[in-house]
Amino acid sequence: MSDNGPIPGGFLEGAEEEAGRYLTTVDGWRHFLCEEPPAPALLSAKEYAQLSPSEKELDEENRLDHHARLLVVATSTVRHTVTCGRRLVLLNRHAISARRGLIVSGPAGTGKTIAITQLGRSHELLDRARHPGRAERIPVVYITVPPAATARMVAAEFARFLGLPVRRPWNITDIIEAVVGVCTDARTGLVLVDELHNISLTTRHGAEVADTLKYFSERIPATFVYAGINIEQTTLLSGTRGAQIAGRFTLLPTHPFPYSTEWKGLVAALENTLVLRKHTPGTLAILDRYLHERTGGMIGALSHQIRGAAIDAILSGTEKITRRSLAAVPLDFTAESSSPAVPRGGQ
Ligand SMILES: Nc1ncnc2c1ncn2[C@@H]1O[C@H](COP(=O)(O)OP(=O)(O)O)[C@@H](O)[C@H]1O
Ligand SMILES: [Mg+2]
Repeated sequence: MSDNGPIPGGFLEGAEEEAGRYLTTVDGWRHFLCEEPPAPALLSAKEYAQLSPSEKELDEENRLDHHARLLVVATSTVRHTVTCGRRLVLLNRHAISARRGLIVSGPAGTGKTIAITQLGRSHELLDRARHPGRAERIPVVYITVPPAATARMVAAEFARFLGLPVRRPWNITDIIEAVVGVCTDARTGLVLVDELHNISLTTRHGAEVADTLKYFSERIPATFVYAGINIEQTTLLSGTRGAQIAGRFTLLPTHPFPYSTEWKGLVAALENTLVLRKHTPGTLAILDRYLHERTGGMIGALSHQIRGAAIDAILSGTEKITRRSLAAVPLDFTAESSSPAVPRGGQ
């Protein structure tokens, strides 16, 4: 796919599990928006032979670092989330009530977090272009719902992102007022709430969290985007409370990839990012069906396999990825257990 290429600067820092936590402060979020250094150059055998031992070490170190980073590919999930999110932001611009929102929902590891953070990235970069030099603006807020969250905990997550100290005597109303005040002044236009499946409407705490989010969405003049695992199968969209959410939110489902043109494009896009001295371009593209069977169409497992094999290739000096070296990278448990059930037709 032609528009399946890497997104410039769309890198997340090395450890992906870290990234979620890391993004949930305004400083971490701003760091995520910075342009990353360009990919290291691929030296010819002759150029490489001329390097001193310490230069060789540095070259290796740079390339290990490059493959450890996550390159974000403009998958259909990313593109749909960005398009739909931006459309809602525009439609909501003049709404004084009943703003509409977006829910990105699907199995774990299908790229929900990546998609909503890319939407946030595009929103914030656009806001900066429109209002240059206005560092006091916080166009995007990103929070995750902690497991077994109470309403106060969720309100405190907003405060934490904004860098507001939550003082012990503050009750939840104090926190909410402070957050709403800062978001309004800082012109927050997009609020991303991740890990929404941690809310269960059948518990009192869960219902209070949902009410708090609803209250935030009424008080902060922003578009709200939720992401979580199989939200439509949880209690979140049922009952009176759920119906209010269901009526105002567009649902964008995410899936494992079927074996399709998009999958092939994804493998090719990831292969194009490799900086290995003896890798024959197109080797992975030929192995796309094998990679699909092995990863169950899970993009996270695919990225882990390819980047893992690239790191092994540098450390072992083979400098290329083969079917055998891919097989040597252990899969995560989900990909291991989900591969037989993957749809092979259209999405
Ligand atoms: N657009 C993308 N480009 C590259 N890798 C991706 C992309 N989307 C997801 N991934 C990979 O899949 C992993 C899981 O994605 P994530 O967004 O965390 O899934 P979810 O939030 O649905 O559990 C990421 O850590 C990354 O390795
Ligand atoms: Mg996630």
